[in-house]
Amino acid sequence: NVYDFGLVGLGVMGRNFILNVADNGFTAMGNDLDTEKVKALIDEGGDTDRVNAVVAVSAFAKALSSPRKIMLLVPAGKVVDIVIDSLLPHLDKGDIIIDGGNSFFTDTDRREAYLAEKGIHFFGAGVSGGAKGARKGPSIMPGGSKAGYAAVQPIFEAVSAKYNGEPCVAYLGPKSAGNYVKMVHNGIEYGLMQLTSEMYDILKKAGKFSNEELHTTFKTWNDGRLQSFLVEITSKIVARKDTLTEGDLIDQILDKAKQKGTGKWTSQNAMDLGIPVPSIDIAVSMREISALKEERIQADHVYDRPEVATIAKDKLSTLTEEALYFSFIVTYAQGLHQLSDASKEYGYGLNIAEIAKIWRAGCIIRARLLADITEAFQENPSLTNLLLSPSFIEKIKGTVASARALVAFGATNGIPLPGLSNSLTYFDAYTSSRLPLNLIQGQRDFFGSHTYERLDREGIFHTEWEE
Ligand code: 6PG
Repeated sequence: NVYDFGLVGLGVMGRNFILNVADNGFTAMGNDLDTEKVKALIDEGGDTDRVNAVVAVSAFAKALSSPRKIMLLVPAGKVVDIVIDSLLPHLDKGDIIIDGGNSFFTDTDRREAYLAEKGIHFFGAGVSGGAKGARKGPSIMPGGSKAGYAAVQPIFEAVSAKYNGEPCVAYLGPKSAGNYVKMVHNGIEYGLMQLTSEMYDILKKAGKFSNEELHTTFKTWNDGRLQSFLVEITSKIVARKDTLTEGDLIDQILDKAKQKGTGKWTSQNAMDLGIPVPSIDIAVSMREISALKEERIQADHVYDRPEVATIAKDKLSTLTEEALYFSFIVTYAQGLHQLSDASKEYGYGLNIAEIAKIWRAGCIIRARLLADITEAFQENPSLTNLLLSPSFIEKIKGTVASARALVAFGATNGIPLPGLSNSLTYFDAYTSSRLPLNLIQGQRDFFGSHTYERLDREGIFHTEWEE
């Protein structure tokens, strides 16, 4: 019983995470059914006293110090249940299982209840940052058994990313709080990715930016207020030369985006809770539309498309920078709004400032903006929407005109900017004290006697419309 930490699932994420644990001075034991993966970890680890791996679950469990701290980095879904059941006969009361995958939050609630009966602490911990993050410092979002978390806290704090020396990990709340927060993180991730792709598109189509110029543009943005992991990697992606042709790799990548489900879950659950997150919804829809490549090609031949007008490069880079900043803010605002409402619904007791804080480094949506968001929620923990925070009101006022100009340009010139226009629409609707939904209430009452309320007096009303 010598190893401090156990990890099941030695795929890229698992292998990198366990090596990170070992780098930080903890001894770690890996487990995987695949002999090749076990061997690969032993080879890469270099010293089996520090990091080791086995195929047999019994040997794995025997090697871990008590209470056992076992992290699962296996595909979400059935596999998690199978792994848990295979571990159970080898565990003792008080042992801890951490699910580090993108599990659906209700699965985490079910597993926590199931394992609590057996005296095993269970918690779901979202891990963000991709393969490199897992190796060098991810953002970790744990929730669930607080007692269980206390035992792994020193390990997680050591391996996580650091922002000005502060670890990007914090206990977020009971039950599935960790997986829920990670799910919404991914929803925001989808939104930001969609928005970035729209700016790339319009810069190319209306500004005739070459890939080299796109590289410079995104790189410059990344040196400013738009500094973020996604903008940074975009600048690198557009500059990458292809190894199979003479050209740039980006121009050869098929425009069909895949998804594993977390963005869709964010939208689905937001709908269930009645929380508007249209910037995330449209990002999911766009991945779906992108998948219809053959139909799109067919439809493209049927309809004429307006000739795209040109915008001067300087002017367009200012417009897109401001529009992207505006729509990034609106997307974070929606995701965080979802988190505060879900927190009430599910009793997570989430602290939004704390979440923004652990997103400042390590995760895919890390961005300079998150430092400002952290401050906004620290100043006012009961802030209902980021758009109402004084410092963000200034940021929005300074950029919304560019969002309007680009949405109008996109519409006139046949360039789809759905993420940007949904962000702008959300903003315009959220900031309208009067919306035309009075008419919808009238219609509902007209055809279904669904009743309506009035502006000028209390009560529930119904009208016999055709009298
Ligand atoms: C992260 C990512 C990661 C996610 C990928 C792929 O935070 O490190 O969110 O967890 O699995 O981004 O997601 P899609 O395949 O759905 O795009």
